[in-house]
Amino acid sequence: MRLHNLVVGALISCTSSASSHILPEPRNYNTTQNVAQRRAQAVKEAFEFAWYGYHTYAFPNDELLPVNNSFSNTRNGWGATAVDALSTAILMESQDVITTIIDYIPTINFNVSRNNAPVSLFETTIRYLGGILSAVDLLNGPYQHLTQSTNDTIALAQQAVNLASKLKFAFDTPTGIPSNDLNFEAESFDLSESTGLAVAGSLVLEWTRLSDMVYRIDFANLTQHAEEYLLHPTYHNATAQPLPGLRGTNIDLRTGDFLDVSGSWSGGDDSFYEYLIKMFVYDPVNFTSYKDAWLEAVHSSASSDIFSHPYSRPDLTFLAAWTGQDVILVSGHLACFAGGNWILGGLVLGNQTLINLGQNLTDSCAETYNATLTGIGPEAWEWETENFFENDDEEVDMFIEDNGFNITDASYNLRPEVLESLYYAYRATGDTKYQDLSWKAFRAINATCRTGSGFSSVTNVNAPHGGSFNDFQESYMFAETFKYAYLIQAEDAKVHVAKKGEEQAWVFNTEGHPFKVRSQQ
Ligand SMILES: *[C@@H]1O[C@H](CO)[C@@H](O)[C@H](O)[C@H]1NC(C)=O
Ligand SMILES: *[C@@H]1O[C@H](CO)[C@@H](O)[C@H](O)[C@H]1NC(C)=O
Ligand SMILES: *[C@@H]1O[C@H](CO)[C@@H](O)[C@H](O)[C@H]1NC(C)=O
Ligand SMILES: *[C@@H]1O[C@H](CO)[C@@H](O)[C@H](O)[C@H]1NC(C)=O
Ligand SMILES: *[C@@H]1O[C@H](CO)[C@@H](O)[C@H](O)[C@H]1NC(C)=O
Ligand SMILES: *[C@@H]1O[C@H](CO)[C@@H](O)[C@H](O)[C@H]1NC(C)=O
Ligand SMILES: *[C@@H]1O[C@H](CO)[C@@H](O)[C@H](O)[C@H]1NC(C)=O
Ligand SMILES: *[C@@H]1O[C@H](CO)[C@@H](O)[C@H](O)[C@H]1NC(C)=O
Ligand SMILES: *[C@@H]1O[C@H](CO)[C@@H](O)[C@H](O)[C@H]1NC(C)=O
Ligand SMILES: *[C@@H]1O[C@H](CO)[C@@H](O)[C@H](O)[C@H]1NC(C)=O
Ligand SMILES: *[C@@H]1O[C@H](CO)[C@@H](O)[C@H](O)[C@H]1NC(C)=O
Ligand SMILES: *[C@@H]1O[C@H](CO)[C@@H](O)[C@H](O)[C@H]1NC(C)=O
Repeated sequence: MRLHNLVVGALISCTSSASSHILPEPRNYNTTQNVAQRRAQAVKEAFEFAWYGYHTYAFPNDELLPVNNSFSNTRNGWGATAVDALSTAILMESQDVITTIIDYIPTINFNVSRNNAPVSLFETTIRYLGGILSAVDLLNGPYQHLTQSTNDTIALAQQAVNLASKLKFAFDTPTGIPSNDLNFEAESFDLSESTGLAVAGSLVLEWTRLSDMVYRIDFANLTQHAEEYLLHPTYHNATAQPLPGLRGTNIDLRTGDFLDVSGSWSGGDDSFYEYLIKMFVYDPVNFTSYKDAWLEAVHSSASSDIFSHPYSRPDLTFLAAWTGQDVILVSGHLACFAGGNWILGGLVLGNQTLINLGQNLTDSCAETYNATLTGIGPEAWEWETENFFENDDEEVDMFIEDNGFNITDASYNLRPEVLESLYYAYRATGDTKYQDLSWKAFRAINATCRTGSGFSSVTNVNAPHGGSFNDFQESYMFAETFKYAYLIQAEDAKVHVAKKGEEQAWVFNTEGHPFKVRSQQ
């Protein structure tokens, strides 16, 4: 049974790229720095390497194609990577990168989408609006020394207003629930197309922060009004409903009704739940109803079959998807944010049980990294809670027996969620095992995905060298993946998730951009 693993082991030891994440630390390190500081410096080195690749071959387009030194514009051509990178560059105090991006942002024309490509309200909000708002908060706050004059942050805030003002027509529906799929030229959208829970429910933090920043209530009003439909859901078929606190996924813009009862903590639904507790962090007086909705969702998830343990690895916990009252035993990298989110809820509510549950989810997601050849976790997997049906593929059966799950999508798309949850777990517990796990994961990403002028997504985390490169570098790698890998080691960064018993002064949006909470502004 173990023979195949031994063969694989021999394979690893002669391919330098798959194993270099377990090589010892470099010898010429700065001896006045402790281990964590040296790791933070190494993450910053990787960030700057990727930035200069992008700057050389792609700026100010949206993304770098690192293998072919080319570029793409999948985010409407406003320089997504530059805007997404800014808050991370500020936390790392990477001055040249910061100056370049601050000079660039005021030149963007948000009125025009390149080739009139459809604009996603959600992606534009979390990446562009979130990135700009965060830069204003950081540069007006603890990182003031990194900018030349207050004119810089005034120009940035003006661009945030310009962008949101252009986006506002999305809310002009019979319910006020915004369309996500916008034609900028005609300022139009298709009312008969439903919207989704995550895209409609992950706007309220950014638009509320913008309102508070520029003293204009209209932006917050729009999103908070739409959110009411999500907080108090109605169903097209009133006799079919998910467990209390959980939601379906597709919403009719004309009636506000949910059209289905299927959902999950993963893509399509995820950040709706994430923002319920983050709004409470933003303002614990005004958003208690959001916190109550979050608690109900977490309680249903933690006390039902959604909180699921694989048959061959009962020590692991993955969050299953649901179809009404039934569960489907599938999960994925995106859902791995939940561990950190439950830990955040435990921190702000002073509930140790929630911290423990979140740690359990986080540790299990980290185990998916441990399971593969590259040391990187897969995009999606499935499992069984009872003895799995053995098929002809002995290799797969053995993998499932050892690791508890079966890989259903082996790609790695430079995603941050596991590093993100490890960061929250470290802040809540102070347990250095989380710094070590994060460092190990980051070195695996660096060893497998670093190529040409940047980092590329890969096709197979369980093959030598990660299979092959997709030649695409997502902007969120700069906003999130590098940031969480850095912050968990960089104790002296001026912005952090607060530890147990301390007040949260910052809240990170779903793209990893930190905002000042309302009481701090
Ligand atoms: C070594 O690290 C210390 C502390 O972070 C820093 O002040 C110093 O500039 C570093 N030295 C070099 C040569 O990078
Ligand atoms: C964008 O459109 C608004 C509203 O029409 C206008 O005031 C603004 O000047 C335009 N911005 C640019 C850069 O064209
Ligand atoms: C800031 O903007 C004002 C008004 O446009 C201008 O007079 C001033 O020179 C600017 N300051 C700096 C340091 O650029
Ligand atoms: C915002 O909403 C409040 C309460 O619903 C309402 O009184 C106020 O007029 C709205 N303000 C704007 C600018 O829409
Ligand atoms: C509504 O849902 C119930 C429960 O799932 C189902 O039995 C019924 O057929 C559904 N009705 C319609 C009109 O879809
Ligand atoms: C927040 O709640 C307090 C107390 O109910 C209220 O006075 C205040 O106006 C609210 N602030 C905002 C911005 O909604
Ligand atoms: C903490 O959260 C758990 C899980 O949802 C819940 O069962 C428990 O009642 C909470 N404890 C307190 C003191 O609120
Ligand atoms: C999850 O929690 C259970 C019970 O506390 C524990 O036995 C198990 O080891 C934990 N799993 C992980 C991956 O931490
Ligand atoms: C998984 O964990 C085991 C035990 O800690 C370790 O020996 C192994 O190298 C890890 N594998 C990967 C791919 O990280
Ligand atoms: C594992 O997943 C693959 C798809 O990636 C599928 O073809 C295979 O049948 C699955 N094996 C088991 C035992 O579930
Ligand atoms: C990342 O890879 C580069 C190039 O192979 C190497 O020089 C660097 O030390 C690596 N960094 C980490 C954190 O593994
Ligand atoms: C890179 O460009 C070459 C030549 O134009 C092309 O054949 C190849 O498919 C490209 N590679 C990727 C990964 O897109």
